[in-house]
Amino acid sequence: MQSGATRGDPPRVQFHNVLESGVGERICLFLSSWEDAYKTVPPWDVGRPQPAFVELVRAGELSKGRVLDVGCGTGENALYLAENGFSVTGVDLSSRAVAVARAKTAEKRLKIDFRAGNVLSLDFKDGLFDNIIDSGLFHTFPDNDRPVYTHEISRVLVANGKYFMLCFSEKEPTGWGGPHRVTRGEIEATFSSLFKINYIRDALFATRFHNDGGRAYLTSATRSSV
Ligand SMILES: C[S@@+](CC[C@H](N)C(=O)[O-])C[C@H]1O[C@@H](n2cnc3c(N)ncnc32)[C@H](O)[C@@H]1O
Repeated sequence: MQSGATRGDPPRVQFHNVLESGVGERICLFLSSWEDAYKTVPPWDVGRPQPAFVELVRAGELSKGRVLDVGCGTGENALYLAENGFSVTGVDLSSRAVAVARAKTAEKRLKIDFRAGNVLSLDFKDGLFDNIIDSGLFHTFPDNDRPVYTHEISRVLVANGKYFMLCFSEKEPTGWGGPHRVTRGEIEATFSSLFKINYIRDALFATRFHNDGGRAYLTSATRSSV
């Protein structure tokens, strides 16, 4: 799937889904926008936080304080962070996803600032957040959006703030379509100018059609202070 949400044509999402049970059965969904993706429950919306982010919290890797969840979807990761004492803001292009995230927040009696917006042009002042999490957003961007994205997330992080990103890796089979598989080299090339990369680890990305998750990379990076 790819998003070209900032300029030119309206955003388009292309998703090829292989059903868990289907032997070679393949469904191609051509979605006109991220908004359309949330007319049903999309494949990435697993109804629980991504295990990789749960582990990060358990390991104490996020500094206590303010977290921005970029491309937050219906908010499962943000809700988990709020339940664990973080002050959380979530931004997503899809107002439908944001509405679902807000409803979940109210139901759980939590306080999270979910808002519709474009992470390529964030409506936040510089240095507002201590951490940023990205669960499946970066790998949806076309190459030319990457520098814009890196600049925006770096801008709204405090100096030495942390960025954690989960994306499909090149180790994930390509047969089912899906988003761009990202290599370690691409992550390094994209983030090294504004971040110190702490690690790029093998991880799994839970979806509604992988049994054990898709092959992914979890990246931890610290915003450079200059
Ligand atoms: C693969 S989904 C992941 C959603 C969520 N993080 C999760 O783990 O369930 C990518 C999300 O990024 C959002 N998105 C795509 N481009 C965006 C942009 N430029 N600004 C904000 N959100 C964006 C989509 O609407 C979608 O909800």
